[in-house]
Amino acid sequence: MDHNNRSYTATAKALHWLMAVLILTASAIGLYSSSMEYGADQALNDYKGGLITLHKSIATITLFLIVLRLVWRFAHRPPQLAGMSPLMEKAAHAGHWLLYALMIVVPVTGWAYSSAAGYPIPVAGLFTLPPLLDKSADMVELIGPFHRWISWLMLVVIAGHVAFAIKHKVIDKDGTMEAMLPQRKQ
Ligand code: HEM
Repeated sequence: MDHNNRSYTATAKALHWLMAVLILTASAIGLYSSSMEYGADQALNDYKGGLITLHKSIATITLFLIVLRLVWRFAHRPPQLAGMSPLMEKAAHAGHWLLYALMIVVPVTGWAYSSAAGYPIPVAGLFTLPPLLDKSADMVELIGPFHRWISWLMLVVIAGHVAFAIKHKVIDKDGTMEAMLPQRKQ
């Protein structure tokens, strides 16, 4: 892409919004299922188990998409966005790379968590990924909380990302948010 262009490519936009929907949906399901405890009620246990399977089936798709996204990102420079001081530009850049890192680490820790627990790792209900680790109660104790906390960190960083996008739209009015919206022509 032309670096002077003010918009992201259609592929970058499609990957951005598809991943946003999948990550937020997987997070909502993960938070909801985590709010239930396994117990004596088998129907509730099955319901929670079904939610976790759905969480994993959706979240694993993002692992494939982030690989595509990074390949696309390295092959196509993002647009030069107006109205940012060099310091703000550096901070935005760092925030975006932190998000890319979290979009790898979060699903990989989930994958490791389910592997250590000895559960399958479904992808979109189509096939399963091989376990990353052998079954191990110790690793479940270690990786489970790590997956939870790093997922929360990602949600906080996403909230910051959205807040800055809104600031660009409402306060700066500099076209930064529009660069990732579908309507603008490239
Ligand atoms: C986009 C990637 C992912 C996101 C954003 C995500 C997010 C979350 C969140 C927010 C929770 C609830 C944390 C809490 O208890 O407060 C959670 C729990 C969980 N996640 Fe993930 N996760 C992702 C990927 C995965 C993957 C790939 C797996 C396994 C293959 C996985 C397995 C689990 C499991 C087993 C739980 C515990 C659910 C429960 O105890 O009910 N996650 N995840």
